[in-house]
Amino acid sequence: MRNVVKAMAAVAAIGTLALTGCGRSDSGSSASGGASGGSGGFAKDSLIGVALPQKTSENWVLAENLFNTDLKDAGYKADVEFANGGVSEQQNQIQSMVTKGAKVIVVGAIDGAQLSTQVKAAKDAGVTVIAYDRLLKNTNAVDYYVAYDNFKVGQLQGQALLDGMKAKKPSGPYNIEVFAGSPDDANAKVFFDGAMSVLQPKIDDGTLKVTSGQKSFEQAVTQGWKAENAQKRMDTLLSANYGSTTLDGVLSPNDTLARAILTSVKGAGKPTPIVTGQDSEVESVKSIMAGVQYSTINKDTRNLVKQTIAMVNSIQQGQKPEINDDKSYNNGTKVVPAYLLPPQIVTKANAKEAYANDPTLSKLTQ
Ligand code: BGC
Repeated sequence: MRNVVKAMAAVAAIGTLALTGCGRSDSGSSASGGASGGSGGFAKDSLIGVALPQKTSENWVLAENLFNTDLKDAGYKADVEFANGGVSEQQNQIQSMVTKGAKVIVVGAIDGAQLSTQVKAAKDAGVTVIAYDRLLKNTNAVDYYVAYDNFKVGQLQGQALLDGMKAKKPSGPYNIEVFAGSPDDANAKVFFDGAMSVLQPKIDDGTLKVTSGQKSFEQAVTQGWKAENAQKRMDTLLSANYGSTTLDGVLSPNDTLARAILTSVKGAGKPTPIVTGQDSEVESVKSIMAGVQYSTINKDTRNLVKQTIAMVNSIQQGQKPEINDDKSYNNGTKVVPAYLLPPQIVTKANAKEAYANDPTLSKLTQ
């Protein structure tokens, strides 16, 4: 567990963002959908609810600690809940935050399509709803979205996979397999689409070969973001397709799954392929420094929580929060006004510099 206690002070200022402008919006509309948060402000000591999903990666645990500390430091009452029991537990938690009189509810959804009733109830009660990290789908009742640019995360992963394989073997064809996250998490498809926007042209021109043929999102998904599911799928892919064929690379959407994939490959006695990741988890950063996992993504949770609390502060003062994207995230009902932070690719080559401000990770890169 990363020590986050007073590290917030060291958080680098969030600079101007270079947005990709890549289309994630179904409509391409530039309308903001009429965000309605911040009608008239509210008392500073009000309750702020934060509904987090399951502990599927370290970043959620970091977020829990940071929300608890930083909301209280800012003068609010905080109700920060995990829903390890699943979707119905998260539905009940949001309902209960509304009943307790929360003024803003921040939601990191387990399943972004299953909370419409609860966020509508929140909206009807005058609560401002912020989707955190994962988008809330098919509802009008979400006011804002704050996240790292998910499509960009996927693009960086796709490019890292290509770069890593090329550094090892200057020319293709390269044999790869592709993994995606959990289909109930709205981010999973966006990460995958971002990565495939880089990889598909290379599949088309023959540089890359998905040996198993399993290259659709549906074939690549990992239910619940669970390590054991990724490991099982990798075991099956290896035994069915890699008798004498060399596996050069694997697109993995996050670090937890990357380590599961690497465990499978090792168990099968195969050479280590280039494997991507995301989240800068401690064990993966160690693995990258040891030359095993190839890459991860730096999405500093401290900055995401800080940006979310800046939104809460604006709403508390009756002002509209700052957004920097009003076109990319169509949730099926509206284009949700968003504040997107820039993700950063990390390999062994830039890890020291990338984690210079992180008290825990910087120790691993000495
Ligand atoms: C987050 C990732 C995380 C995954 C699994 C996604 O929604 O954006 O950072 O790895 O959930 O927890």
